[in-house]
Amino acid sequence: MSDPTEKTGGIAVIVGGGSTWTPGILKSLCEHREEFPLSELRMFDIDAERQKIVGEFARILFAEEYPDLKFSYSTDKARAYDNCDFVFCQIRTGGFAMRQTDEQIPLAHGVVGQETCGPGGFAYGLRSIPDMIEVVRDARRYGNDPWILNYSNPAAIVALALQREFPNDRKIINMCDQPVNLLASYAKLLGLSRHDLRPQYIGLNHFGWFTRLTDATGRDRLPELRSKILAEGFLPADAAERDPSWLVTYGTVEQILRDFPDYLPNTYLQYYLYPEQIVERSDPLHTRTEEVQNGREKRVFRECLRVAACGTAQGSPLNRSEIHADMIVEVAASIVRNLHREFIMIVPNNGVVANFSQDAMIECLAVVNANGVEPYAFGEIDSFMKGLMESQFAYEKLTVDAYYEKSYTKALQALTLNRTVVDAGKARALLNDLWDVNRDYWPELR
Ligand code: NAD
Ligand code: G6P
Ligand code: MN
Repeated sequence: MSDPTEKTGGIAVIVGGGSTWTPGILKSLCEHREEFPLSELRMFDIDAERQKIVGEFARILFAEEYPDLKFSYSTDKARAYDNCDFVFCQIRTGGFAMRQTDEQIPLAHGVVGQETCGPGGFAYGLRSIPDMIEVVRDARRYGNDPWILNYSNPAAIVALALQREFPNDRKIINMCDQPVNLLASYAKLLGLSRHDLRPQYIGLNHFGWFTRLTDATGRDRLPELRSKILAEGFLPADAAERDPSWLVTYGTVEQILRDFPDYLPNTYLQYYLYPEQIVERSDPLHTRTEEVQNGREKRVFRECLRVAACGTAQGSPLNRSEIHADMIVEVAASIVRNLHREFIMIVPNNGVVANFSQDAMIECLAVVNANGVEPYAFGEIDSFMKGLMESQFAYEKLTVDAYYEKSYTKALQALTLNRTVVDAGKARALLNDLWDVNRDYWPELR
């Protein structure tokens, strides 16, 4: 039993309840109910049908594993956010239909088609900004000054826009699970748990590097990991549950290490370092969207429906923890219980990297406590990182500027600066084609 004098998480809301990532969070909440006790959990989504599938799974899981938790799901934001203390957010503005255009339109121009990188990430960013601002406003309007923990992508753009809209607001926290996924995968390769390795990490979201990985004895295991990956290749820790393209992506780490052996790269760097190779191996008509919808989404929804029909979650493949889910719940617990746990988080630079734009939202090692996220100073980055990061940050900033100023020129500058595009003529053609399908979501660029 938890100590009744200890703080609790109170009421939490999962925004984007119909996401395929929600079941993992529900399970993680069950597993962490001692250190992150909740009185109530609500789900909120704008799509009643999707949310019902996950919501009915939740009822059964909680009845079996968290019976004292009050639970409901709703499409009514006033009810969902009412007096809440925590918001876990994972929305996708425009859904998978728009994700498909983010991937297919760039590929039709011979450019990387990805939901968070390149022109796809740009288009998705302009769609996500207004919805994320609305989530924060609604949560504040109806809730009890809640902590807002956000996974919604493209996290780099969302974080920068929220920093501009709500400057230095410590209760808005943007995060990404890819560094911890990688950490778990390194640990597995070394026969360790992810908790046995203390990382040093620096970059922008989906654009960074591990620069050290020390074990309990203080030894840096990065050189050993590099040799192992070069000799044996690299797979995600949860390879058995991954759709095939993720295995190819992890495999690319070996290639990146051959070219750039100093640090262990975030897998998303593949899109910026080898854009031509990525385009070559992509099929413009069958992109990741299709793979997710026929893979992860089908598996998760089918299993939710099966559990609801048979009335028990025991033995279900969804009844197990996921790193993605554990991270967000562990961050919340660390806030509520002032645990000073370390995570790789997205924060304002503000001196963390001495020789880099101070107004960037960077990703680095941080401690999480009752005050929120407190990053450790990193020092200086080298010329290669700096060159890449400054141009990527300029792209991010110009994307957010384009949104606020409704500026076509800034949008064009942003896309031209992106390493996946480079050519201004191509950038213009892309911008025009993306605008055609994003009219309902973007501000009108002039
Ligand atoms: P999804 O489309 O399957 O689920 C998103 C859900 O959000 C849908 O049910 C949708 O109806 C709902 N939604 C959309 N707009 C909403 C709004 N304004 N308010 C409330 N609900 C809304 O997408 P997914 O694949 O589950 O991913 C969800 C988000 O989480 C995406 O942005 C994805 O990129 C992100 N994600 C981020 C990380 C990370 O590392 N930061 C990890 C996993 C997923
Ligand atoms: C990683 C990234 C996320 C991304 C997720 C799913 O965890 O950090 O930002 O949303 O993968 O990507 P996918 O392409 O499988 O939908
Ligand atoms: Mn991410």
